[in-house]
Amino acid sequence: MATVTSTQTQNLPISVKANSQPTEEKPRVRRAVDEESGTITASHPPYLPTWDHGEKYAPLEPFEHIEHGKGADPSFKDLLTEGSKLQHLTPTTGSEVTGVQLSKLSDAGKDQLALLVAQRKVVAFRNQDLENLPIQEALDFGGYFGRHHIHPTSGSPEGYPELHIVHRSGNASEFDSFLANRNSSVSWHSDVSYEKQPPGTTFLYALDIPEVGGDTGFVNQVEAYNRLSPLLKERLHGLKAIHSGFEQAEFSKKRDGVVRREPVTSEHPIVRTHPATGEKALFVNKGFTRKIVGFKEEESEALLKFLFDHIGRGIDYQARVRWAPGTVVVWDNRVTTHSAIFDWTTGERRHLARITPQAEAPFETPYVPESQ
Ligand SMILES: [Fe+2]
Repeated sequence: MATVTSTQTQNLPISVKANSQPTEEKPRVRRAVDEESGTITASHPPYLPTWDHGEKYAPLEPFEHIEHGKGADPSFKDLLTEGSKLQHLTPTTGSEVTGVQLSKLSDAGKDQLALLVAQRKVVAFRNQDLENLPIQEALDFGGYFGRHHIHPTSGSPEGYPELHIVHRSGNASEFDSFLANRNSSVSWHSDVSYEKQPPGTTFLYALDIPEVGGDTGFVNQVEAYNRLSPLLKERLHGLKAIHSGFEQAEFSKKRDGVVRREPVTSEHPIVRTHPATGEKALFVNKGFTRKIVGFKEEESEALLKFLFDHIGRGIDYQARVRWAPGTVVVWDNRVTTHSAIFDWTTGERRHLARITPQAEAPFETPYVPESQ
């Protein structure tokens, strides 16, 4: 059932060095739990991030992705069963579901989940039990949707490198330094789009969250594409852009973080087609997209700037998801960009865990004029 095994095979540490005891003063493993002044207030301490400087992974190998949303029953009868409720956040983007327990879904229900999320782009499931399951069970659930991605630089619970941990303790100095050189915390990106096979159906679940604040914003990249003029759409088809993981690795190194796998770049089509819905989406994001292949510097910069601005300002094709205890937010990383919003100053912890199944290599299908 789950693809955890193949993932682990792909990503076994190749050099957890026996001699990687500290050569400098710093310990090999940094643990957030050790930095909490002896009082642990996190509700899920095993989920607190650790960074192991000795953990190294080989480059990712290609794999064949099975798209579970493709051919799934669009009536959603195995997902939205009796007693469940689906409400849309906006007409095109985002929904909220109550009365469904994700961890109990049948395979047919999971297939329909992939399709629903592809259609709605992001769906918040309330009152979930994922956070209270053994971590391996949560991973087994997520592994149904694709090979687990192991993040090259993020912290993870010890022994579970497939989990990407989002963690801010929320102390004032952390916010002051974050906003010292920025007007806004908004940073639109599609997760690890620099990989050859970036993630598809992606899960983020709440562990500790502020009572108010720390929402996540999402952009519907299909609607962002749809808003373009036919002439610009046609021009974008056939173009590729370079996505880079190098800056993220550099950022991590500078902060004495880990680089568990050497950074890569990938060329992806600027307009990609979703394998289940057939919808076309803009596949560029300010976080990782650097250059349009074949364009001169100024041309690339100008066109990417237009696309990033277009994506960022379209509140009419964005949705904002509010977290609550027990919430699991599922998005399709192929057809969305997202941003955390750092706007709470109460000192509350924001701690979430992400399961990140990889999907197919992005592909495009030909431009179709609107009259057809
Ligand atoms: Fe992200």
